[in-house]
Order: sequence, then C-alpha cells, then structure tokens
Amino acid sequence: MCGIVGYTGSQAARDILVDGLRRLEYRGYDSSGIALSDGERIRTVRRVGKVDELAQAVESWKVASACGIGHTRWATHGRPSEANAHPHSDCSGKISIVHNGIIENFVQLRDQLQAEGHVFKSDTDTEIVAHLVEKYYDGDLIAALMRACERLQGAYGLAVMHADHPGVIAVTRKDSPIVVGSSDDGDAALVASDIVAILEYTRDVVFLEDRQYALLTPGNIEFFNENGKIIEPEFTHIDWDAENAERAGFPDFMLKEIHEQPRAVRDTISGAVKNGRVLLDDLTLDDDDIDAIDNVYIIGCGTSYHAGLVARELIERWARIPTTVEVASEFRYRNPIVSSSTLVIAISQSGETADTLAAVRIARSKGARVFAITNCVGSRITRESDGTLYVKANMEISVAATKSFLAQIACLMLIAMFLGQKKGRLTTRQVKSLYYELRETPAQIEDILQDTDVIEQAAKMIAKAHSVMYVGRGIGATVCNEGALKLKEISYLHAEAYAAGELKHGPIALIDEEVPVVAVVTDSPTRMQTLSNVQEILARGAHVVAVATEGDTDIEDIADYVLYIPPVRDWCSAITASVPLQLLARYAAVERGCDVDHPRNLAKSVTVE
Ligand code: M6R
Repeated sequence: MCGIVGYTGSQAARDILVDGLRRLEYRGYDSSGIALSDGERIRTVRRVGKVDELAQAVESWKVASACGIGHTRWATHGRPSEANAHPHSDCSGKISIVHNGIIENFVQLRDQLQAEGHVFKSDTDTEIVAHLVEKYYDGDLIAALMRACERLQGAYGLAVMHADHPGVIAVTRKDSPIVVGSSDDGDAALVASDIVAILEYTRDVVFLEDRQYALLTPGNIEFFNENGKIIEPEFTHIDWDAENAERAGFPDFMLKEIHEQPRAVRDTISGAVKNGRVLLDDLTLDDDDIDAIDNVYIIGCGTSYHAGLVARELIERWARIPTTVEVASEFRYRNPIVSSSTLVIAISQSGETADTLAAVRIARSKGARVFAITNCVGSRITRESDGTLYVKANMEISVAATKSFLAQIACLMLIAMFLGQKKGRLTTRQVKSLYYELRETPAQIEDILQDTDVIEQAAKMIAKAHSVMYVGRGIGATVCNEGALKLKEISYLHAEAYAAGELKHGPIALIDEEVPVVAVVTDSPTRMQTLSNVQEILARGAHVVAVATEGDTDIEDIADYVLYIPPVRDWCSAITASVPLQLLARYAAVERGCDVDHPRNLAKSVTVE
C-alpha cells in the first residue's frame, strides 16, 4: 500500500526521504517519487519500480534542500507509471502533494476543476487535491488545505508543500494514518504514514486523528483542528528499537520474524494469569456484561481471520458461547445479526485494514461491544473500538504475517480462557493448567526452529509443484488455512486448504502424483480419521508432507517428509504446528527465487477497500 515520508530540517532531505521510502518498501508499491523544495521552486523525480531506481535517479541531483516529501505508490487509479507516481503538482507547479487513500468523488471534482481551466497530467485521484489547494490558496497553505479537504470524500493521508513556503510541510488525514514528530535533536520535523519511516529521527510522535492538521517547520509542529483552532494533541512514546526494523543478520524479514515468535508469544501472554485467574484488564467487561453476552462474532481479514478460526474453536470449547468468524469484507455488506448481546472481536495486525475498520463501525452501530486485537499502538482500530488488547509481536515488516499471527492466537487463547472462567465453565485449576501449557509453547517453537533441514528438503519438492493441497481436522484444519495462504502469497503457488473429511466430497478429484499434500496429523481426537484420509491421498499417488508429533514414527512409513512438533495438546498445536508450515512456505519461495518480503501485488496494510 502507498507510503508517505516528509522531512524539514537542516540536513539533506533527499537522503532522508530515500532512506524513509526504503523503510516503507515492505508495504508493497509499484513506483516512488520525491519532491524537494530549494527555497525558490519545487523539483520532483518519480520512477516506476523499486526505490533503488529512484535512488539512482536522484544520486547526482544537485538540489540543496532540507525540505521535501516522498511517496511509494501502490496503483489504484491509473496504471503504475511515472506520470501517475507521486508527488503530484498543480497547474502553477508551485504545489507538491503526496497522498495515501482513495478520493471517492474525484471524477466529479476533476470535471469541475477542468471546467474551471485546471489541466491534469495524471490519471490519479490524488492530482485533484493539488488543484484544489491551488484553487483555494491565497497565501495561507494550511487554510487552503482545509478548504480543499472539505470537498473530499473518501480516505486520505496528505502531505503538501508550496514553493512560496520554503521549509513548510502541511499534513492532514482522514481514514488513512499519518504520524508526525520532531527530531530528537530538535532541529527537524518529520511526517510519515508509518512510524518505521521516521523512527531513526524521532520517538515521541503524534498519530493525527481524522481531520486534524499539522504544520511542520524545522524543529516545530503546530496542530490544528478542522476549524483552524490550535490544539495540543497527546504525544506517544515509541519504544521500538530502530534496529528492530533491520534484518539482524537474517536473509529476509520473514525468517527473522519467524525466529522472533517465541518472544512474541512470551511477551503477549506474560502475566496474564495470576493464581488461576485470567487478568485481562483491557477487556473491560464486568460480570453483568459477561452475563449478557450470548454470542461472539470475530472479524478480520487474511491471516487475522485465520487466527479468528482458532479462537472460535476455543471459545466454543472452553466458554460454550456460540461463536461466528467472518471475513470483514463480507461482514460489512451482509447485515449480520449482531446486537448488544454480541461480543465482537476485531483482529488486525496493522489496525488500519479498511474492511476491518468498516466492519467495526457496523458492529458498533448495531449496539455490540467491540474489542480490537492489534499489534500497532495508536492505529485506527484502537480509536474506533470500545477497547483494545495489544499483542506484543513488536514491529512486523514482512508482508507475510508470521509472528503477529502466533501472538494473535496466544492473545485469543487468553480471551477464550477468560470467557470460560467468567462463564463458570473453567475452574481456577483448569485455567492454571491451560496457562501452564500455553507458557510451554515458546520453548517448543524454539525447538522446532533448531533443526529445519527436513522442512527445507520438503520445500524443494513443494517448490516444483503447480498446486498444493493442505488437509487437517479441527485445530489442524485452521492451521492448514494459514499454511496454504503463506505458500500462495510468497511463492505464487496455488494452494488450497481443506478439512480432511471434505476431501472425498470433491477435491480428491484433484489429487494425483503432481499435487503434493501437506497433512496436519498431530495428536488430536481426530488424528485417526485424518490418517485414513492420508491413506486415500496416498492411493492416488500424491507425495505427502506430514506435520506430526514427535514420537509418531509410524507416519514415517507413509509420508515422504515428516515435520515434527513437540508433544502438545491439540489446542496448543495451533501455535506450534503453524511454525513448520510458515517455514515450508518461506523455503519454497526462496527455492522459486521469489522476493520473500515483497510479494507481488500485496501490501502490508490494506488501507483501501
Ligand atoms: O493488518 P491486518 O491483520 O488487518 O491485515 C489483514 C490481512 O491483509 C493480512 O493478514 C494479510 O493476509 C497478510 N498478507 C497475511 O500474511
């Protein structure tokens, strides 16, 4: 998805912007550009492709500038091209603008502006904002931006410069994140769509609220509400280490983040149970609220949705509350049956996913209490929900979610225990025992990560296939959904996950020696049934990669590769069995020469519908 970075200070803006854009690459993009103000005019360079192309283009650029804005674009309106890349300009060339989001009424606005004589040079919705600012500009940049935004429908994070205001960047947002901060040395001010782009320079930042404005000058930021009144928003201190955003010696972020999973799970569950009582203070539900809950609705997209599938299994198992899980993009348009007796859990790593946010608004409008589970402090979902539980995965850079997924599952396990206890279905002793088992999982992940040779060998076989089937039952089936998604998104192989019992109702027709099957046959009440399905698969000549429990040597007689996990209860295998499947996808992607951290067509946070 698009990324914004801006800098005004005393250093060379070009290098800081290019560096910031590199840090935003993980979000996914197809072109990039920067604009620098040299005190007299604004100069712009844009390139299609990687930020490297842009960096080369500006390397010999002799513009002495300490103020500029940059952007990585992920095409929505108009194909990826230099003309459509940001920054965009107005007719006079004095205004330069970068934008994240989508302007829904851009056709209507463009027609009006064209009728007034404005000339457009791109197919984008963004360019109209530059022309609107031009139209309303009478010497006051922030006032012109405010008037322009009054005309906009849709989502926007915006950063604007004007040649007549050297060293000034005006910013605002609606439904698209913008964060601003002064540099730690006090010389500069920075803006970004994602804290990672500016973390090297600032740790105390403001996440702008919708329709708030900020005027950045070197070392100073003024904040305004939409009526132009000066406001003093709260600063948030970011603890994340800048180094955390680097690969720390791993060949890619995905592998680094897979290896960070023991810590992510440990940090997420730490201190959550004391003396057999689940302490989730952020889940602000008193006994009456709990009594009133007669169903749970879980919403999310992609990997977060898959975490929800695990949660349904456990909330129903431990709390006996009927639970529905739905992808947010369906929920939002379906008039779902949700009321004040529904507890809604909205899961989003980024906290900025447009579909999930829309679903949250709908659920709340129907009277439900909505709790968000997110990894990102200050993200939109935290402000749109009734409460937030943070997972402690720390910054996740790779587009393919891994550590955030395991942390989400761990957090949801705690919620399931909490509800089970509050509903009187789990005793203190049972909670103690469940928590004890959950606390073992980080060490078990470490065990799995110790030796990945067999996973790498299996990945070599998988990498040659055109299509891969994943099968399992119960928790194993939910693990398969995520395993198949990981393979699809980073290795571009077709992969499908099926509840093993469903195979014979259709998909078994696909199985032959060309279609390998990944079967999750870890210890569970339905292991024998899944093994029978594996036999049916073998009878069709397919190669089998089994995820099994250590000690299960029988499986070695039938599977081509066995990926072992330590002995755990089946519910804990939602965490541990996911790890070999993440690695399988990652090694297959590397084997196929894919860019693991920047899969094609994908973005880290999907802030448009
Ligand atoms: O930030 P969110 O958790 O809301 O993102 C939802 C999905 O876009 C995300 O999980 C996506 O499926 C990832 N690429 C999975 O690896």
